[in-house]
Amino acid sequence: MTSALLKVSSVSVRFGGLKALDDVSFTAEPGTITGLIGPNGAGKTTLFNVVAGIQRPSAGRVELGGRNVTTATPQRRASMGLARTFQRLEVFGTLSVRENLLVGAESRRRWDRSVRPRSVADGLLERLGLTAVASVLADELPTGTQRLVELARALATGPRLLLLDEGASGLDEHETAQMATLLRTLARDDGLTIALVEHDMPFVMGLCDTVVMLDHGQVVALGTPDEVRASEAVQAAYLGSTSVAGGGSE
Ligand SMILES: Nc1ncnc2c1ncn2[C@@H]1O[C@H](COP(=O)(O)OP(=O)(O)OP(=O)(O)O)[C@@H](O)[C@H]1O
Ligand SMILES: [Mg+2]
Repeated sequence: MTSALLKVSSVSVRFGGLKALDDVSFTAEPGTITGLIGPNGAGKTTLFNVVAGIQRPSAGRVELGGRNVTTATPQRRASMGLARTFQRLEVFGTLSVRENLLVGAESRRRWDRSVRPRSVADGLLERLGLTAVASVLADELPTGTQRLVELARALATGPRLLLLDEGASGLDEHETAQMATLLRTLARDDGLTIALVEHDMPFVMGLCDTVVMLDHGQVVALGTPDEVRASEAVQAAYLGSTSVAGGGSE
């Protein structure tokens, strides 16, 4: 038995001769934030794709809330409380901000008829500070606000587990700090479990409870931010970089 909301066990993914993931294991407890770091091509997005059900692993197992979902469809996983955002920002550009949120809430209605999409959308607009731009088309917004819209749409599906693939990329310093505060509140107060991929070391180290570093598809460091910061793998990869030694983003 495990209390982990997400359990990834010995997952491997092969693309022809390339091992994009090689025997990757980690768990995420409810209400925690897990950061995935590692160089370009390390396998971070592939790992998210395996968790979300977009990529079938060549070996290994994925459990969500104690249930084996290794072969479950993305839709089934969504109905079990999984939501994600994408590395390449994906909003519905010709829909208003409020309509983007309604899409998320409507998709949740497929498995939860008790949902009131309009009140979900309005609640999230308020909470994420988007009320003033509710009727603006997503395409007309700056990147930072679009990132928030994408996050809000994911939240509108009522997830228990949220995967954010570089959700803070393209944000300025102020927006990044706001995003960190929001994610912290969602985890601590709402019990949302979050896994995020981010290249911004101070952001990851200041925000996450657990950090997993991938390199060439393998887990090369796993632990608290302090443990991972001190690990040989991180020291070697970021040697001379003040961004790791610099610590938290608060
Ligand atoms: N569909 C695919 N077919 C073949 N190779 C792939 C496919 N998807 C990813 N790869 C390869 O698998 C490896 C891992 O890619 P992945 O996108 O998971 O890395 P990443 O850690 O997310 O990198 P980045 O930081 O650049 O986003 C890379 O070598 C990539 O080229
Ligand atoms: Mg990626």
